[in-house]
Amino acid sequence: MSAATEVDPTRLIYTNEELLANGDYREPLIANEVRCHGGFLEDGLYRSPRTLHRAPAIDAWKKQLADQGHELIDLTRDLTPPQYPNVAQAKLLLRNGVREPIVRALTIISIVEGFGAMIRDVRVPKLEDLFVGGVEGTALAHLRGGLFEAHARDESGYRDEGGHKQMWEAARDEALENPKIPGDVLMRIMGRRQKREKTGPVFPEIDPNLERMLGFMCQVMVVEVFAEGTFDWGIELLSDPEVSAKPKVAGDMVRHIQQDEKPHVEYLRTALSEARARTLRTVDGKEIQGQIVVDEFMHRILHSMTRERQVEQRTDLRENLIEAMKVAQNPKSLLEKFDSLDEEWNPPASTGFASTRGAAAA
Ligand SMILES: [Fe+2]
Ligand SMILES: [Fe+2]
Repeated sequence: MSAATEVDPTRLIYTNEELLANGDYREPLIANEVRCHGGFLEDGLYRSPRTLHRAPAIDAWKKQLADQGHELIDLTRDLTPPQYPNVAQAKLLLRNGVREPIVRALTIISIVEGFGAMIRDVRVPKLEDLFVGGVEGTALAHLRGGLFEAHARDESGYRDEGGHKQMWEAARDEALENPKIPGDVLMRIMGRRQKREKTGPVFPEIDPNLERMLGFMCQVMVVEVFAEGTFDWGIELLSDPEVSAKPKVAGDMVRHIQQDEKPHVEYLRTALSEARARTLRTVDGKEIQGQIVVDEFMHRILHSMTRERQVEQRTDLRENLIEAMKVAQNPKSLLEKFDSLDEEWNPPASTGFASTRGAAAA
């Protein structure tokens, strides 16, 4: 039986195996001698991994939501902080032989992609009991073992197949010809993560696992949406033959990753919109609108991440910038030129989501 002929666009219920199924490829994706996920179809087009059923399933859940008259949450592009260094700054450094900061930035991206595997460890409570009217035939009902597992495999690889972590490494190594990787990248990211404060529950009246799950999903969705800007940056930078040794291979690799991210953003916004459209049962037998909960998390996360990401990227880069620039012919004028290419950016005044529990408001 050919699985590819079995797609029914109205179907709402899937097994985990189906949501993890690739379908057949004519040719696998191999990068820098690493076998990666996904592959090429008869027409030479790249098809993302695990999308044979996952892609039509997400479309069907989205359509169901729309048919029921509910809106799909969306993040406007103006919320995405610009990548630092920007494309012009990154090209300037590479043209002047200053590679370490760019190798570092690309390595950070690959490590953060690998962290995406944490989504499979999210504890999914019994959603059918926590949402009034249940969750049958929704994206919410397919998170455990299906959508979360597919997402985790996409990000960090699975068995002998590389995922986004390995694909970014391959793009970096092809474009910059197997550069020396700074040894402290992971340590610094971990140090920063430990410093983040843990806060208590925002909604003590709802199941703590449900609060954690929805909060984490909002956070991952914001990361995924912000990543769009990173992909555009990576494609533009690594496709430029002036600074990239393999402009086609490296640029295409980032394009494939970008394509793979679509189902991540789409299932997260669908499931969060389903939660938003429903009523939640509280632990004390009362009810609360899902919209109040989801919007509160979206607001808080957007409010802090639009500010934090800029600061973090600048800190990461500038810590070693002066040292790294010593390899250039005239480090002082290079730094001046680099800073003159800076773009000022301020987060929009509103996140677009209502906060009713105060604490994180501006
Ligand atoms: Fe990814
Ligand atoms: Fe992703």
